[in-house]
Amino acid sequence: MEYMKERNRTASLRFKIIFPFIALGGLVVTAAMAAITVFILTAWMGQPIPVFGFEQTFDQPIAFPHTRHAGTGMMKSVDGTQELQALGLDCTFCHRTVTTQLNAGVPAVQQCMFCHQAIGPQSSPELQKLRAAAGLDGAVKTPVDWRRIHRLPDHVRFVHEAHIRYLTANPEAINNVPEQNKAAVQSAVQSNGQVMPSMVCSTCHGDVASMDKVKQVEPLKMGQCVNCHRDNNAPTDCAVCHH
Ligand code: HEC
Ligand code: HEC
Ligand code: HEC
Ligand code: HEC
Ligand code: HEC
Repeated sequence: MEYMKERNRTASLRFKIIFPFIALGGLVVTAAMAAITVFILTAWMGQPIPVFGFEQTFDQPIAFPHTRHAGTGMMKSVDGTQELQALGLDCTFCHRTVTTQLNAGVPAVQQCMFCHQAIGPQSSPELQKLRAAAGLDGAVKTPVDWRRIHRLPDHVRFVHEAHIRYLTANPEAINNVPEQNKAAVQSAVQSNGQVMPSMVCSTCHGDVASMDKVKQVEPLKMGQCVNCHRDNNAPTDCAVCHH
């Protein structure tokens, strides 16, 4: 009996001392819960709020212009002396594993040197950096440290191959079709035919061929992934996308 009273008294004493901390703790927990809720909602629905340091694009170590390589329009040569036709290279010419693997792959410097050993003025600072990286002019060979623009968190699995395969065979599911692909995509839809792999990239990456500097144009958040999976009868169980 005596023992119980003693215990209650110390308990209530302890409680009096702890109470303000509990109240404060409650506030902290509430604030933390609110922050987490907001974070999950933004993660689900759109771009994270800028507070979290999200950027859509970066300066690359070498300013590689997709316009010149993958675009098709006319543009001034690098030295400004003539009008050149952009090269119109296929996306898969450089992103070689996009149709077969998880990653699209970014080309090694050696692949750029097929052309840039000879092509492009010596005076271009960007091409000087490229040639130095390739070990020309007596420099030590160093891979270019391209910065990733699109990156999902580590707990998410994404596979390019499956998406390219599906979208080339189901062109009606392609989004953001750029002007220059519209006719081809439309006629494939009408004839139940296929499109080239490079015509499906816009769905998630926008019109890269017209970007001097690649930027992320789609949120590529869970909501977008799951909606598209649902619309196209692809699996939506958590384990498909989460390790
Ligand atoms: C099929 C040939 C070809 C390949 C392959 C190629 N390029 Fe180019 N690149 C060109 C041409 C042509 C130009 C324009 C040259 C001109 O106007 O004198 C150019 C221009 C450039 C420029 C612009 C330079 C400036 O100062 O504006 C950069 C940077 C560049 N390329 C980097 C690369 C990189 C990096 C790779 C490899 C990932 C690569 N290129 C692969 C042909 C190629
Ligand atoms: C001549 C080679 C070349 C061609 C052709 C090319 N790319 Fe790229 N691509 C690169 C290089 C090099 C980078 C890394 C530097 C950068 O981000 O600009 C890159 C980066 C990218 C990225 C950003 C990757 C990231 O970090 O998230 C995307 C998306 C992309 N390319 C899509 C395309 C698409 C779509 C096409 C066709 C319309 C294409 N590329 C054609 C060389 C090429
Ligand atoms: C269904 C959406 C989707 C389509 C279609 C798609 N991508 Fe991607 N791509 C992504 C996502 C998501 C990432 C980031 C993946 C990660 O972080 O694991 C990415 C990353 C990349 C990267 C950088 C990292 C890497 O994988 O090497 C390149 C380059 C790229 N994509 C090129 C392409 C090209 C070229 C095409 C068309 C042939 C294409 N993508 C089609 C969603 C897509
Ligand atoms: C344009 C619609 C579309 C978008 C956007 C999309 N997916 Fe998919 N995804 C599909 C379809 C359709 C399949 C089933 C392809 C097949 O038939 O194998 C698929 C398959 C997959 C698979 C299974 C691949 C395999 O074979 O193991 C994974 C993983 C996946 N998607 C992840 C993602 C993630 C993560 C995102 C968002 C970043 C995403 N997807 C965005 C349409 C989409
Ligand atoms: C089609 C692919 C896909 C499926 C299916 C999927 N997720 Fe995700 N999930 C993603 C992607 C992509 C992200 C990362 C981008 C983001 O934060 O939205 C993500 C992020 C998350 C996050 C972390 C949110 C954050 O703020 O970091 C949680 C939690 C999550 N998913 C739970 C689930 C659960 C539970 C399921 C099953 C009911 C599920 N996911 C099914 C693609 C998927």
